Amino acid sequence: MGVIIAVVNHKGGVGKSTITANLGAALARRNGRVLVVDCDHQANLTISLLAGARPEPNLCDLLLGSTGHGEPLSPEQIVQATDRVRLDIIPSGEELAEAEDVLDAEYMKERLLAEALGDLPNRYDIIFLDCPPSLGLMTKNALTMATHVLIPVMATEFAAKGVTILSQTIAKVQRRGNPGLQVLGVLVNNYDAHPVVYRIQYQRLVEHLGVLKFATDIPKGVVVEEAHVMGCNVLDYSEGSAVSRAYTALAEEVLTRLEVQ
Ligand SMILES: Nc1ncnc2c1ncn2[C@@H]1O[C@H](COP(=O)(O)OP(=O)(O)OP(=O)(O)O)[C@@H](O)[C@H]1O
Ligand SMILES: [Mg+2]
Repeated sequence: MGVIIAVVNHKGGVGKSTITANLGAALARRNGRVLVVDCDHQANLTISLLAGARPEPNLCDLLLGSTGHGEPLSPEQIVQATDRVRLDIIPSGEELAEAEDVLDAEYMKERLLAEALGDLPNRYDIIFLDCPPSLGLMTKNALTMATHVLIPVMATEFAAKGVTILSQTIAKVQRRGNPGLQVLGVLVNNYDAHPVVYRIQYQRLVEHLGVLKFATDIPKGVVVEEAHVMGCNVLDYSEGSAVSRAYTALAEEVLTRLEVQ
């Protein structure tokens, strides 16, 4: 089984889906076989990597099928290639929000995602699980099957508190069934160093996080929104941009951390 990285923060809008798409693309460029799984009913990752398409069947159908609430499907039936070579996606859809009520009543409900994906993860070097902005059922499923957690934050006043809450959740998951789960790192995203107040908040966060923080930060850049509009990743949209260069550096840092751990 390869590396499975859950991209988690219960705070919304910190960049989970954007980071999953672009770090996934950067690692695929480095010759890795990468699978990104959209675990969020908002399906932002799906929309951004598949140029607005909303494919069916998707993860919702797979989960319902594997629990006897729908037609049984294999993960191979829902996996899709993206425009970037070696980067595949398991798409999501908004129906997942309602389906979660059904799935929530299942026995050992934290293991449904791992069961539904079966052997598929073995075909990839790195798998990313893009989580919704909650610590609900899909995030629990992601943390239960992950080997690592990547925590995106924005350098704001409450980021440190959010990381503390997440660390407590991760400790519970380690105690209750996934002892090998490790925090790969905390990633500062969307960083704008111009206003002095942001620099002060950033410095406080650096001190709070210590070695947990990746050395690479992802800067704020309009290319991120432009790439979303074009339905592709930032590296293919604007290779020379500061954001693209940061993702390339982050991919190297992730590989180094994975070797070390
Ligand atoms: N480096 C960046 N520069 C500028 N904008 C960014 C950057 N990273 C992310 N964004 C923007 O921030 C917004 C939130 O990003 P994204 O949807 O990836 O966050 P999320 O954590 O997945 O959100 P949710 O919690 O709703 O799933 C998006 O509009 C995205 O384009
Ligand atoms: Mg998201």
